[in-house]
Amino acid sequence: MATSDYGLVIAMMMAIFLASFISADPDLLQDVCVADLSSGVKLNGFACKSNISSDDFFFAGLAKPALTNNTFGATVTSASVQQINGLNTLGVSMARIDYAPGGINPPHTHPRATEIVYVLEGELDVGFITTENKLFSKTIKVGEIFTFPRGLIHYQLNSGKVPAAVIVGFNSQLPGTQRVANALFASSPTVEDVVLTKTFQVGTKEVEKIKSRLAPKK
Ligand SMILES: *[C@@H]1O[C@H](CO)[C@@H](O)[C@H](O)[C@H]1NC(C)=O
Ligand SMILES: *[C@@H]1O[C@H](CO)[C@@H](O)[C@H](O)[C@H]1NC(C)=O
Repeated sequence: MATSDYGLVIAMMMAIFLASFISADPDLLQDVCVADLSSGVKLNGFACKSNISSDDFFFAGLAKPALTNNTFGATVTSASVQQINGLNTLGVSMARIDYAPGGINPPHTHPRATEIVYVLEGELDVGFITTENKLFSKTIKVGEIFTFPRGLIHYQLNSGKVPAAVIVGFNSQLPGTQRVANALFASSPTVEDVVLTKTFQVGTKEVEKIKSRLAPKK
């Protein structure tokens, strides 16, 4: 082999090696493996069920706007493996997010997926923050797209006067969502006040106030 061929082979091997890290969910080993959510078998993903039908690959839940009359004025409707059992092992899923005027999808991360949003209606201020604390933000309108890299904290705010909605794609069957404020101030059991007073450099009163505001509704 000529030297340049060796270079090419090494480059290809590097690409394959990197791809195995970059892909969010593991590769599938069969055509389909429709999730049996009721199975007691624990593995990475869900056990496959044997009696499957077209409905295992179908979901109508993103067709209509969801109600947004909640604390944050925004509602995420997931279309993950939990709604579409046929997504098990396929490494993709979707969601729809509806926002009231002023509504926010507060800062959160998806530990297992990169996210790509497409604006259906309205206008949103969106952004993500890198591990070097650099903010990348943009105002996006109908038909436009923004991307949130895997694992990075991001948000969307409807700063407009009309409702907004997006359709979202994820490169994971179950991206997982961790909301920063809820994780720190509304976990169960709760994080000790002293951890939060030291972290945020405020007093116990402020911490208790946030905790009471974010406490899960009974
Ligand atoms: C498979 O599921 C269908 C309905 O989804 C049901 O009518 C049928 O009896 C099931 N077959 C078996 C072998 O369980
Ligand atoms: C939101 O609005 C719907 C329909 O108008 C109503 O049934 C529901 O109780 C409201 N939810 C809250 C949290 O106010």
